[in-house]
Amino acid sequence: MKISTPLGEFRICKNQNELAFEYARFFQELSASVIARKNVMNIALAGGNTPKTTYGVLSDFYRNKIEWNKIQFYWSDERCVTPDHPESNYLMAKVYLLDRLPIPEGNIHRVFGEQDPEAEAIRYGNLIQRLVPQVSGVPVFDLIMLGMGEDGHVASIFPDQMALFEDASLCAVATHPLTGQKRITMTGRLLHNARNVTIMATGKAKEAVLNDLFNTPDRAALYPVSRLAGGKGKVTWFVDQEICPPSLLNTGT
Ligand code: 6PG
Repeated sequence: MKISTPLGEFRICKNQNELAFEYARFFQELSASVIARKNVMNIALAGGNTPKTTYGVLSDFYRNKIEWNKIQFYWSDERCVTPDHPESNYLMAKVYLLDRLPIPEGNIHRVFGEQDPEAEAIRYGNLIQRLVPQVSGVPVFDLIMLGMGEDGHVASIFPDQMALFEDASLCAVATHPLTGQKRITMTGRLLHNARNVTIMATGKAKEAVLNDLFNTPDRAALYPVSRLAGGKGKVTWFVDQEICPPSLLNTGT
């Protein structure tokens, strides 16, 4: 079911598996259109657990339906850990997607989570500035993929670090509010200028966030995900029925 809302288009799927196939179709259509026009597509991958099923569908069923060698892969955020660490977003994408597809090594631009965080945020931002085509001096991704935490965080912009949406840099160091883990995250400068931003979110544990987003404006403003609607690009949500409050399922609000 597709519903247009002030927060973007919602594609509501029965479950994670249906969401994965819906996302894969979306990704195939978008990549075909972008590559037909520019012969290259610049995307940022999401971390966390939710994308795993979608990455699996893309690698299992879309190997020959997408021109993978024409896609440049970045990350919307990364934990400051080594690339072989179980919490690495790079490792997750490598296992579920990248190693299973014909993607040239040179197309993969991982964050060096093992480096000094401040230095790496600068390095990664400079890399993006250099390689990703710009509009008015700002690199513009064709697609930035995001998940959403139970506190409404996106990438690694947490509720207590919302200033990162206004940060002048392209990437910054964030700190997980519970674990203290350092992260490298894209800032609002990239998130708000991407042509397409997607949010994949599922599960009852996150329903309260969606309920607030649609029904409690005061609380909605406290969730980083609410800030995505202020960007220039198209925002598309891929959610399951469990995360949707009845108001969204019944009236689309
Ligand atoms: C990360 C992600 C983060 C994630 C959300 C949702 O590095 O953890 O970038 O923003 O998308 O925390 O995580 P789950 O998909 O595991 O619920």
